[in-house]
Amino acid sequence: MLEKVQKLKESFLSHLNQASSTAALDAIRIEFLGKKGEVSLLLNNLKSLPGDVRKEAGRIINDAKQYMEEQIRAKTAELSALEEKKKIDSAESYDESLPLPLSLGSYHPITLIQREVEEIFSSMGFIVEDYDEVVDDYHCFEALNIPKYHPARDMQDTYYLDNGQLLKTHTSAAQNYIMRKYGAPVRAIFPGRCFRNESPDACHENTFFQLEGIMIDRDISISNLIYFMKTMLSEVFRQDITVRLRPGFFPFVEPGFELDISCTICGGKGCPSCKNSGWLELCPCGMIHPNVLRFGGIDPEEYTGFAFGLGLTRLAMMKYGIKDIRILNSGNLKALSQFTDR
Ligand code: FA5
Repeated sequence: MLEKVQKLKESFLSHLNQASSTAALDAIRIEFLGKKGEVSLLLNNLKSLPGDVRKEAGRIINDAKQYMEEQIRAKTAELSALEEKKKIDSAESYDESLPLPLSLGSYHPITLIQREVEEIFSSMGFIVEDYDEVVDDYHCFEALNIPKYHPARDMQDTYYLDNGQLLKTHTSAAQNYIMRKYGAPVRAIFPGRCFRNESPDACHENTFFQLEGIMIDRDISISNLIYFMKTMLSEVFRQDITVRLRPGFFPFVEPGFELDISCTICGGKGCPSCKNSGWLELCPCGMIHPNVLRFGGIDPEEYTGFAFGLGLTRLAMMKYGIKDIRILNSGNLKALSQFTDR
């Protein structure tokens, strides 16, 4: 047995010396130490030896096995290091002091338009406020004169959460919070992300942005509302655009209006972006309902005010000529960056 094992070791060493890669070493390991390898064969044959020599033969074979394993481990370490070095030496060299060819990307069109509108209103004395995206029923509906089961709720197919809260369907949900925080007089705008269970099309998304504004003071009238809407639109577009004001119903304003913009994509002729009507609903508005002022802790006998809910996502479409609203949430950088030059 001693002789057999000695021969096996010699054969093993000769194979090992010739191996020049870790892959070759692996093949040797399988040949000698694998399940069906030479060492296993010897161990299996132990059964046929008489009991008195079996133990000694087993020890000799196991010593040889251990020896081979150590040799393979050592040679693997040596060859791996060589292979690694080869890889490094053959890698393409580069000048690490050169500037990286990275493009810096651009702001999202909605971020740009939001900042622009914020600047316009800030310059007219409005503060900019933020509000939650997860809100309660009271703020989103009840404080806006929309009690439970009011049909106006059907206009905003709402995502309710298990805990009774909901995803804000409109930025009007912050009106009560702002009135309670600042009281009257107040001028504030509050942009935010809104969620509705809509079937998306070229001008509807289930996740979109609005920018709400309220102005409450003594003697605020519809003329003030019209002045601020006109100023905002002429500053944003910096060119004549056609708008129309028509009556609109919202339980939280009285009177209420729909402010539509002539579609800038088709020039008012009608296209999928404006549902072929030539007009796009952009900024509903109106005089704040006395109940809403009361819910906000403001005396409607002393103060009046206006509110508007600008569709920021649609404004971005009209300003940048984006035909399909779905591009804005697509995350497609190539498509989005073409609309902005910053
Ligand atoms: C409202 O959400 C009211 N809270 C607005 C308001 C505020 C009225 C204050 C009066 C006073 P409406 O559901 O119409 O109203 O939405 C307002 C604007 O948000 C729309 O004109 C449109 O520009 C935009 N908008 C509404 N739904 C979507 C949608 N699914 N995708 C994209 N934009 C939308």
